[in-house]
Amino acid sequence: DKGQYPHYMLKEIHEQPETLSRTLSHYLDPIEMRVDMPDGLDFAAIDRVIIVACGTAYYAGMVAKYMFEQIAGLAVDIDIASEFRYRDPVLSPKSLMIVVSQSGETADTLAALRYAKSFNLKTAALVNVMTSTMAREADIALPIKAGPEIGVASTKAFTSQTCALATLAVGAAFARGHIDADTAAAHCRDLATLPQRVVEALLCSDDIAQVAATLIDAKSIFFLGRGPMVPIALEGALKLKEISYIHAEGYAAGELKHGPIALIETGTPVIIIAPDDALFEKTVSNLQEVAARGARIILLTDAKGADAAKGLSKTIVTLPTATPLCAPIIQAIGQQLLAYHTAVTLGTDVDQPRNLAKSVTVE
Ligand code: M6R
Repeated sequence: DKGQYPHYMLKEIHEQPETLSRTLSHYLDPIEMRVDMPDGLDFAAIDRVIIVACGTAYYAGMVAKYMFEQIAGLAVDIDIASEFRYRDPVLSPKSLMIVVSQSGETADTLAALRYAKSFNLKTAALVNVMTSTMAREADIALPIKAGPEIGVASTKAFTSQTCALATLAVGAAFARGHIDADTAAAHCRDLATLPQRVVEALLCSDDIAQVAATLIDAKSIFFLGRGPMVPIALEGALKLKEISYIHAEGYAAGELKHGPIALIETGTPVIIIAPDDALFEKTVSNLQEVAARGARIILLTDAKGADAAKGLSKTIVTLPTATPLCAPIIQAIGQQLLAYHTAVTLGTDVDQPRNLAKSVTVE
């Protein structure tokens, strides 16, 4: 039931304060402010995490790589399932394999899980559907608690996957002695603020709809970010092409001069995802590079970033201020709304985009 919403996708976007609260209550102890580590998951016993997934779930894993490496000092390899399964990957026995999948049925991801099991690797499946094949076959089934996702374009599953992985990164950091209990508690308190920040992010919907209305004639749109905003740029581009059918490419902002900048013409829309973080200045210099080539800049940032970039971009969307653990999720909401409003303005079938299935159970 779509309730008051015209599309499941919009309903699912707006459910995120609630779905993220559920994810957090599953992984965090709200009294002690610590991570409730799921049974069987021992991050002190491993020296590497391998995350394997497809599509949007892969981008959630990519965000998690930044978190595990930065907070827990734990090495993470991230792989596309269809590549991993046929590549003869070299697996070290002390690795933990985490497959990430909304459905828990994606053929390539399931094959990757079975491959890892055949090498006796410890496996965990982070899934939305706990009755799924991956949840049954992995050593540890980790729920994301997003509730049924009907829209083919994944929204609430992505933010819950990212949020669950963020809690696990904090838990891993503490289990490995990389941070003390006070620092872990501070991270948990920070994550606990996420649902309220998401409520505020959703209030940007009208502003984003206005930006979306200016994109409908674009023949190509670029999405740029740095650090954890790279996967958000890739996710923003995927979401847009999936439901609006406009050609879109996400890039690490620093890669631009290595080729893609040749595609920038006068008026080419370039979406820059840059909250005020450690890499903000670097991204701003990439913004200036594309602006100098005539690009039409659309900056999605936070209050401090908006202030610093005044005069550099005519179009600025100011999303809520967030810490490094929460910012990727807040910025992802901006991307979901941008894709949604663009598609609605173009009149496409938002919930059932052409050529796509909700669950890809054949390779
Ligand atoms: O069910 P899964 O999470 O394994 O699905 C993976 C991808 O097929 C999925 O995320 C796809 O990319 C979405 N349509 C993206 O919105």
